[in-house]
Amino acid sequence: MELDGRRVALGVTGGIAAYKAAELTRLLVREGATVRVAMTAAAERFVTPATFQALSGNRVCADAWDADIGHGMAHIDFTRQADVLLVAPATANFLAKAAHGIADDLLSTLTLARACPLLVAPAMNRQMWNHPATRRNVATLTADGADILGPVSGAQACGETGEGRMLEAAEIVEEVIAHFQPKRLLGRKVLLTAGPTFEAIDPVRGITNLSSGKMGFAVARAAREAGAEVTLVCGPVALPVPRGVARVDVVSALEMRAAVMRHVAGRDVFIGVAAVADYRPETASEQKRKKDGNTFPAIELVENPDILAEVAALPRPPLCVGFAAETRNLAEYAEKKRRAKNIPLIVGNLIADGFGGDTNTLALFDDDGRHDLPLAPKLDLARQLIARVASLLENPRASH
Ligand code: C5P
Repeated sequence: MELDGRRVALGVTGGIAAYKAAELTRLLVREGATVRVAMTAAAERFVTPATFQALSGNRVCADAWDADIGHGMAHIDFTRQADVLLVAPATANFLAKAAHGIADDLLSTLTLARACPLLVAPAMNRQMWNHPATRRNVATLTADGADILGPVSGAQACGETGEGRMLEAAEIVEEVIAHFQPKRLLGRKVLLTAGPTFEAIDPVRGITNLSSGKMGFAVARAAREAGAEVTLVCGPVALPVPRGVARVDVVSALEMRAAVMRHVAGRDVFIGVAAVADYRPETASEQKRKKDGNTFPAIELVENPDILAEVAALPRPPLCVGFAAETRNLAEYAEKKRRAKNIPLIVGNLIADGFGGDTNTLALFDDDGRHDLPLAPKLDLARQLIARVASLLENPRASH
């Protein structure tokens, strides 16, 4: 569980999105967090404290004069026992009060008295969100070190469409998890490839492989969690893009190369996780190929460009990381690839159980030799890989 041992103080303010805070509580608890909820009086008009009490397993605080809490100092106790204060939904009124240090109810008081970081997930009508006063308040909160999560554009409860919709509960949980990760790639720009490529034979057929894209998406998420600006070029996969990651969809290896070359300038790191098809049909038939009954069809193949090797050969290349999926002789083949492509780090993966699982076993090969990463969820492995990448960025090798 991603939030084991973490203590989240959840502030709920009075917007219609308060109903999503119930689901948010459930998901935080499911990830192992201890959740204590504080509600404003307006929030209680939308959802009752009993809902949050049942979902969090803890008493809900609403009244600054509640003598039952701690030593009778609710506003002090509440966040002293928290690793983060998350306010979701955060109304325009809450943002205004927090930005100006107004403390006229329990939640605004404990926001001011807190001793932990503040994350807010705003939710409001688009005009309220775009109002100069709200813009100023958000800028002030950001300057004060708060993390503003969203909002996003979409249909609003008032019937309008625009920016001001709160993030979904699962997205907020992803942000809370990211908050606790070390920010070793802050200010860095990372470009990745992921998934398979699809090389067309005709309009309905093609050559592809069983890459699920899960490892590449996990690495993209881990890089973003570490504070990097991340662009992910991916072949045909049905996975949702991690929050905060820019996604570029491509189909073939040639399209993947073009997208990578378009985005590579100014990057600190390039990680090729994609299983790029080695070959493509020389020409894709414009019409669907038909059986003629007499001859067996032959498909002329030509070699695809090696995207990773091309990036590594650029005049001022980013730090390049490759993946090597092998069915045998992992160390030998991985080292060979590392030298052939002239890259400092290659991630070896012995394909024992096929593609597509949620866990994996990896081995990192770099100038320091081999470093094994035992069986773990792909996100855990991705974080370890990103830590290694951060170390290499901090201590670049003279040879590369
Ligand atoms: O040579 P091989 O395909 O085994 O190398 C795998 C590594 O090279 C991966 O990181 C993969 O993303 C990258 N690669 C590439 N372009 C290719 C083939 C592989 O970027 N055409």
